[in-house]
Amino acid sequence: KPIVLSGCQPSGQLSIGNYIGALRQWVSMQDSHDCRFMLVDLHAITVRQDPQELRTATLDGLALYLACGLDPKRSVVFVQSHVPEHAQLAWVLNCYTQMGELNRMTQFKDKSERHASNINAGLFSYPALMAADILLYQANQVPVGNDQKQHLELSRDIATRFNNLYGDVFQVPDPFIPEVGARVMSLQEPTKKMSKSDENPNNFIGLLEDPKKITKKIKRAVTDSDEQARIYFDPEEKAGVSNLLSILSCATGRPIADLVPEYEGKMYGHLKGDVAEAVVTMLEPIQRDYQELRNDRDLLNGIMKQGAEQASALAAKTLARVYDVIGLVPRP
Ligand code: AQP
Repeated sequence: KPIVLSGCQPSGQLSIGNYIGALRQWVSMQDSHDCRFMLVDLHAITVRQDPQELRTATLDGLALYLACGLDPKRSVVFVQSHVPEHAQLAWVLNCYTQMGELNRMTQFKDKSERHASNINAGLFSYPALMAADILLYQANQVPVGNDQKQHLELSRDIATRFNNLYGDVFQVPDPFIPEVGARVMSLQEPTKKMSKSDENPNNFIGLLEDPKKITKKIKRAVTDSDEQARIYFDPEEKAGVSNLLSILSCATGRPIADLVPEYEGKMYGHLKGDVAEAVVTMLEPIQRDYQELRNDRDLLNGIMKQGAEQASALAAKTLARVYDVIGLVPRP
């Protein structure tokens, strides 16, 4: 079976962007692939986090992973900081990554604009840690949203460079990007992607949000000033409407082309009402299961412990090989 690795940052409450772009695909890959899914808390600290909120978001994230359908019996589910090999390999890979390559990363540019008072070295070298996450497990496929494509390409370049120097140490990973929903956009600024840590909470929908609040946010979503309020899919001309159509398509499982004719002669309000209902229905079982899982701390601890042990056993093999080929003397 192909090996799959992916993760979300506990940098806030997971959003429908994370669910549609990532988690949902992960769930469907569990039988056909050997999966490892993590919560990347070490990535989250590249932006300043409140310690208590980070702890809560990590446990919430784990309960949400399970509520969305990740199954620790079939997949390795773990927290990144529990497996020290991630930080260890990241250091090595930092030494095989060029400043110029990191400089070209658009996420670094975006995030350093948003967090201008804390442009730290970790934020800059984030892609080397991401490469370590992937390469440690010899992953063949990495399911991600479109926003992570550039980072993944850099992971491939680092792996190839390393292999050229030292032989076949790493599997070079391929991206796996869903066709629909790879880029869920912000509700108020539909030309930028939906982010869970957006400072304007009206821009995103959290997986745990109250249905009434979700409905309100969708009803307030920005559309456009087309006087005829025509509803069709064109992300350039009609970014807001197209985003709502994509979300509706993902939440109902119906192709956009089938949905569009149903809105002929209807108003934006109709579309928004349907999107809100579909999103609330999609999240209902997740929210229900989450509550139960989140209250069972023993269960969460057991899963974290088992996941860390399984992940460490896999990661340690790759790290030992890397240390060896670059010439580090093994600890006697
Ligand atoms: N808007 C999105 N549409 C589709 N996929 C998305 N992903 C994130 N946002 C969208 C995918 O979710 C996975 C986990 O992302 P992450 O938590 O590691 O970090 P991110 O991409 O930086 O997500 P956020 O929500 O924007 O977090 P913050 O606000 O903290 O930066 C990835 O596969 C990502 O592609």
